[in-house]
Amino acid sequence: MDGNKYIDYCMCYAAMVAGHADPVIAAAITEQTKHGTLYGLPAPAATDLAEEIRRRYPMVEMLRFTQSGVEATMYAVRLARAATQKLGVLKVEGAYHGASDTLLVSCAVPQNTPAGPEWLPSSYVESAGIPPGASQHTYIVQFNHLESLEYQLKRHEGEIACFILEPCMTNGGVIPPDPGYLKAARELTRKYNVLLIFDEVKIGCRIAAGGGAEGGGRAGRSGRHLGPRPYRAIRLPARQAPGGTGSLRDRHARAPVGQGPRAGRPPHVPSRSCRHEGVRPRHPGSE
Ligand SMILES: Cc1ncc(COP(=O)(O)O)c(C=O)c1O
Repeated sequence: MDGNKYIDYCMCYAAMVAGHADPVIAAAITEQTKHGTLYGLPAPAATDLAEEIRRRYPMVEMLRFTQSGVEATMYAVRLARAATQKLGVLKVEGAYHGASDTLLVSCAVPQNTPAGPEWLPSSYVESAGIPPGASQHTYIVQFNHLESLEYQLKRHEGEIACFILEPCMTNGGVIPPDPGYLKAARELTRKYNVLLIFDEVKIGCRIAAGGGAEGGGRAGRSGRHLGPRPYRAIRLPARQAPGGTGSLRDRHARAPVGQGPRAGRPPHVPSRSCRHEGVRPRHPGSE
């Protein structure tokens, strides 16, 4: 475009993990276009894919395909709220889960905004146009910081529907979970009766065939044996096309939630690293 040649290391923020115009993928897409590309009802290709996901993630009991990662995380949160009848959502400071109103909070912390102490990061709404009601129940914790998680779980006890996180955090550089972090987070969320959502839009099928529980374990030696299964929102890189998946536990999936009309793919918001202002006290009480 500007006369220079560039090597694309961005790879659409990891969506194009197999590279651009991979001949095998291009051939598969071309073949499928002969049979159709979008169906409103379940079709054999979707069933085949669902079976492959289930082979890789044996814990999956129910599965819904979505058109994008933002939809997968948005539906996961909606479902958690419907199933628990609670509104609060916990997310990690610096984490991006798509541009839905509830989750576009504290994806990055601007330099001039007080970030709050480390165990109690302030909630920072990322965009104008988000109604206060949509984000006021989003509370923030630090990744790899169990005191921060427990502090918020206690502080908002009875209010929080779910804790959403990437088992291996990709925003802010790839930050693996500390040994024991995911397992302890699972135990804490169970203790406080909060659903745990793994956003594997980026890491699903990448760090391990079995996703975050397996690969988070490999990266941080802590993800295996998480016990009762977290929900997952996965984007499937093998398709090399936009699309997401929500996988669920049956009893929660039956909560009455509407999908609404099919929306188009929202504009992509690039990952941003988490920036903190100055040095923050690390433990509750040492502010
Ligand atoms: C961790 C994570 N979750 C969700 C999303 C949203 O996915 P999509 O851009 O496919 O809507 C992204 C996008 O980068 C992401 O990085």
